[in-house]
Amino acid sequence: ATGGAKFGKTRDIVKKMDESNKNCVVFYGSQTGTAEDYAARLAKEGKSRFGLETMVADIEEYDYENIDTIPSDKIVMFVLATYGEGEPTDNAVDFYEFITGEDTAFSEGAEPALGNLKYVAFGLGNNTYEHYNSMVRNVDKALTKFGAERIGTAGEGDDGAGTMEEDFLAWKDPMWTALAEKLGLEEREAVYEPVFSTTEREGLAKDAPEVYLGEPNKMHLEGASRGPYNAHNPYIAPIVESKEIFTVKDRNCLHMEIDISGSNLSYQTGDHIAVWPTNAGREVDRFLKVTGLYEKRDTVIAVKPLDPTAKVPFPTPTTYEAVARYHMEICAPVSRQYLATLAAFAPDEKAKAEMSKLGSDKEYFSSKVSSQFLNIAQVLDSVAPGAIWSNIPFSALIEGIHKIQPRYYSISSSSLVQKTKISITAVVESIQLPSRPDALKGVTTNYLLALKQKQHGDPNPDPHGLTYEITGPRNKYDGIHVPVHVRHSNFKLPSDPTKPIIMIGPGTGVAPFRAFVQERAAQAAAGTPVGKTILFFGCRSKKQDYLYEQEWAEYKKALGDNFELITAFSRDGPKKVYVQHRLQENAKLVNELLEKKAYFYVCGDASHMAREVNAALATIIAENRGITEQKAEDVVKSMRSANQYQEDVWS
Ligand code: 2AM
Repeated sequence: ATGGAKFGKTRDIVKKMDESNKNCVVFYGSQTGTAEDYAARLAKEGKSRFGLETMVADIEEYDYENIDTIPSDKIVMFVLATYGEGEPTDNAVDFYEFITGEDTAFSEGAEPALGNLKYVAFGLGNNTYEHYNSMVRNVDKALTKFGAERIGTAGEGDDGAGTMEEDFLAWKDPMWTALAEKLGLEEREAVYEPVFSTTEREGLAKDAPEVYLGEPNKMHLEGASRGPYNAHNPYIAPIVESKEIFTVKDRNCLHMEIDISGSNLSYQTGDHIAVWPTNAGREVDRFLKVTGLYEKRDTVIAVKPLDPTAKVPFPTPTTYEAVARYHMEICAPVSRQYLATLAAFAPDEKAKAEMSKLGSDKEYFSSKVSSQFLNIAQVLDSVAPGAIWSNIPFSALIEGIHKIQPRYYSISSSSLVQKTKISITAVVESIQLPSRPDALKGVTTNYLLALKQKQHGDPNPDPHGLTYEITGPRNKYDGIHVPVHVRHSNFKLPSDPTKPIIMIGPGTGVAPFRAFVQERAAQAAAGTPVGKTILFFGCRSKKQDYLYEQEWAEYKKALGDNFELITAFSRDGPKKVYVQHRLQENAKLVNELLEKKAYFYVCGDASHMAREVNAALATIIAENRGITEQKAEDVVKSMRSANQYQEDVWS
């Protein structure tokens, strides 16, 4: 060791790799954690199968000006998500601009700057967006241009088709073969090497002040921190109002008001609010039981990285229970590859064989696991009923189960009308599978529902026995709170309120449009001239899930003829009627407004609705302007690039 600086925070990746004896770095550009997770999996596989000395690196934490000095016996991997309309993820913006920008110092030509660099690339994208996987495509192009050599193909995973995991698995195997050949690596019998050590601290009481019990923000709860509140540091906000806004009993849609006045958080109409969830107690218990941790769930543990480049994804010391409840995505869909990894720790030979089969047989996995929405504990339980999987090292659980991520909701209030109060409109997800009555989707919306029921002292607060822990550990506050932060978005009203707008928002896709209409109604009430404001809203039935029915009438009073609400009730008539059908029926008006430079907004389901609306609009333009469909599609595309067509969609 050469002293304290050895594993200090250098931004020099070449130096870092030298100091920590690594020959493979996996850079990730990640927004919601999936790319980060794939990066970690590649690093792990490289190590266990080929003995590569791998490290994972957040691309934001390093400089890249000297990647031309990485020697040719080392390898750089890129796992890059494309975000929104073809943008880099926040942590990859600088890198992306550097590598694809005009003034990159690297040279092309006979002796290109990156002639020594060998790399591997996988992208995460969504084909419902126009610029599908543009991050990996453009980075790959730039690296090749500067003479770098790609090993294997540049992989592309498609979230839009729901095949991300399978795309990744299908890409990585030939890549490993090509890489092993190129670098002369010998494949070995995969050996599991833990990344983290876990020490049980029997002497330390759970309520000792230094023990983290899952507080999303300990300093803040202790009154010692004032922000800034952001994706690393949520604000524990009071819920000042919560109610259900469907009139049917079998489905729930929540309207909540979150008070941010005690924070320095601010938002603008069209932004998103992030909610930090808590796992359901029923699933926490199931997970702790099947992994053999239930009896010692309150034992204090200290978790440390065994590899200096790895990071423990939660604060420690902590307890097994706190990790399961607050830090691990234990209810998420399970990865096939992870089941193959866990086969080695099965309680008996039969379970081991079953796990290997699930891990290697795509169809079998789909029928037994993904189509049944099973979470990891449910899989382990069903593979070996009643058995305890205590052979699984805790490190393998930390490595294989994602770190819990905040969920984003389109804010449904106007910041002009309620500056320090954020509205959320969220439908509670549920699945009804006769074969699996315990299948659980919608971790966060079910948690929000539990908060609402608690707030209202509901006589039957938890019909599904999910037992959410409502108030959180060490709460020093009264009432009902939820950890949040705000994410700014580009989904914005025109700055000129007289500009006409057309909004398409079926279901909870109406959320940001409630905000838009609320804002324009307030402007009109204050005497500001406001342009035509047209909202297409769709739901199943006028009597059941017609969101904000009374409010629209109020806004109409303020906006008069400038506001028009056009509804599509899909299940009230003999035939399905959707917002895009109503759009067609109003083709003339829509086209006229677009010619007056109306802004066009779509919010809601990405894979079907938003695509069909896009197609309907092209048809309207073609028919009303007497141009070909092809030309009309180009018109729609140019509207998108000019920000006249904006989407806030999810899959
Ligand atoms: P459905 O469930 O009756 O088919 C909000 O979810 C509304 O969007 C519902 O009325 C739903 O109708 C409708 N919807 C479902 N698929 C759609 C699509 N492809 N395009 C537009 N609306 C759709």
